[in-house]
Amino acid sequence: MKQYIENIPKAELHIHIEGTFEPELLFKIAKRNNISIPFKSVDELRKAYEFDCLQDFLDIYYQGAKVLQTEEDFYDLTYTYFEKCAVQNVKHTEIMFDPQTHTERGVAFDTVINGISKACEAAQNNFGISSFLIMSYLRHMTEEEAFETLKQSLPYKDKIKAIGLDSSEKGNPPSKFQKVFEASIKEGYIPLAHAGEEGDADYIWEALDLLKIARIDHGNNALQDPELIQEIINRDIALTVCPLSNKALQVVPDLKNHPLKKMMDLGLKVTINSDDPAYFGGQVNQNYIEIQEALDLTKREIYQLAANSFQYSLLDEKDKVKNLQILTGYFQTH
Ligand code: ADE
Ligand code: ZN
Repeated sequence: MKQYIENIPKAELHIHIEGTFEPELLFKIAKRNNISIPFKSVDELRKAYEFDCLQDFLDIYYQGAKVLQTEEDFYDLTYTYFEKCAVQNVKHTEIMFDPQTHTERGVAFDTVINGISKACEAAQNNFGISSFLIMSYLRHMTEEEAFETLKQSLPYKDKIKAIGLDSSEKGNPPSKFQKVFEASIKEGYIPLAHAGEEGDADYIWEALDLLKIARIDHGNNALQDPELIQEIINRDIALTVCPLSNKALQVVPDLKNHPLKKMMDLGLKVTINSDDPAYFGGQVNQNYIEIQEALDLTKREIYQLAANSFQYSLLDEKDKVKNLQILTGYFQTH
């Protein structure tokens, strides 16, 4: 089964590029930029990755991101992620980046976007991996600040497919960002958002009805509300579920209690993703492997999850069909 999972073609739809920052690379870039970090070694830094909740994690994640300063840093970070995609049979990825984490400390928007998008082009050429970028607004900041980020993004519109909403969920409901989402949609960006990771089902309703999102990041708490479950199914919207993230951030006590299989059985369209793999103990394949073991998922269910990852990607129909045909060929012969 492990080999089956490793070899099956898949897409990853929920990944924060800043969350792929492994301690080894973080130390290397810190040294290059002459920045001192409050940890003596890679091991000591890794030991700090113990979290009680989302905020606990975010505090250390934003700290780590401060090391990123130059276009080369963003390129190296992103290209390193693609190298991991290549060995995991990830054929397509939709990458979130948080411009405000960087612009807030004086790094120019174009430094961030140029570094990341050059790595995306190189990955297409070197590995044949396609990708889209999702510019995420930080929900702990104001809507006015999100509007400023939207403005900064406009010269790079051709490089950005969608917008997202991430960071501290509780106390920062989707309604806080209704106007900036409306304006972003007018600019041609596809709206996506984290919802129902720690926030309750009413945050998911708001994300659907006010932000008009095309996909839900996490969405675990949809299970609190049967009417909401039916609405998500009726709208044919997928959830980008992140099992190891949910375990690390105590959204679920352990993977055996993870609602993924229940979601599938209810008819929800679910995908498997790594969220912030450097911090949560595993890349996307490790997420598939551990949740398969915990919930005793069948090969057909693994195939269904991989199929959802292409079907509910932002790829156009032609590319979805191409990827799904290859995937189905794999399923039929293994
Ligand atoms: N930013 C990075 N990872 C996140 C997560 N799991 N939830 C909210 N914001 C995030
Ligand atoms: Zn996330």
